[in-house]
Amino acid sequence: MTDNRPIGVFDSGIGGLTVLREIWKAVPGENTIYFGDNSRSPYGTKSRSTIIRYSLQNMKFLESKNVKMIVIACNTASAYAFEELKNRAGVPVVEVVTPGADVACRATKNGRIGIIATKGTISTGVYKKAVEKRAEELGMKDIEIFQQACPLFVSLAEEGWWDTEVTRLTAEEYLKPLKEAGVDTLVMACTHYPLLSKVIKEIMGDDVVIINTGEATAKFVKDLLSREGTSSEGNINPVREFYTSDEPELFEQVAAPFLGEGLPSGTKHFSTDRYEVTI
Ligand code: DGL
Repeated sequence: MTDNRPIGVFDSGIGGLTVLREIWKAVPGENTIYFGDNSRSPYGTKSRSTIIRYSLQNMKFLESKNVKMIVIACNTASAYAFEELKNRAGVPVVEVVTPGADVACRATKNGRIGIIATKGTISTGVYKKAVEKRAEELGMKDIEIFQQACPLFVSLAEEGWWDTEVTRLTAEEYLKPLKEAGVDTLVMACTHYPLLSKVIKEIMGDDVVIINTGEATAKFVKDLLSREGTSSEGNINPVREFYTSDEPELFEQVAAPFLGEGLPSGTKHFSTDRYEVTI
């Protein structure tokens, strides 16, 4: 059985493109529709009810595009809104927390796992719970989790300061407690952080495994498509559409470095705040 409908992906803005590019790598023949909610970004500092409302509106938009699956390519939205979306969507919903937690548990040798994310994600405790649950399922004992919010990383990534002195100093400060705790595995639980991974890796050292949740999520998407029998026929020229709630031109300028390849073009504007949702 094949299903040529697109995979819908959304994020608060451009960070989710680091997840999208991993999806493209994992399932290159799939059509995709990406929605970046740039006009209402960032999500990482907003309240639970706001993020749930935004996420439900984004879901409605993607459903209106007849997608076969929705990927919440934003850690903050995954942490707050996954349950709501899963219960209300007519198609499978994938979040970025569980796949990252699974890879972290399999990677650690000393059982000490670090998690870095936005304030919003950390405050939900969702990652910690997901890692604990996965560790239990895998029969692992003595897991210790150390969390650290790194709010300035999002601005540094968006500014394009991926490998500068300011970034290095900021990262040293944020990562110090995790180094002191002796973590051997670090989860980058925010879509923007993979762009800073060179600096993060240098500071944490070669012995620490750094996990990109986008990569883990893309693998999960691939497995789910084949489990459900909904992979596409494998288009040679897949359709890759982009929508933003802000200015398309601005989106394309800022998006390019996040995407790495296949610069977005023909981006259209759409505001999902027109959808009425009840929480
Ligand atoms: N996409 C968000 C996340 O992964 C980071 C940017 C934001 O705060 O909106 O948590």
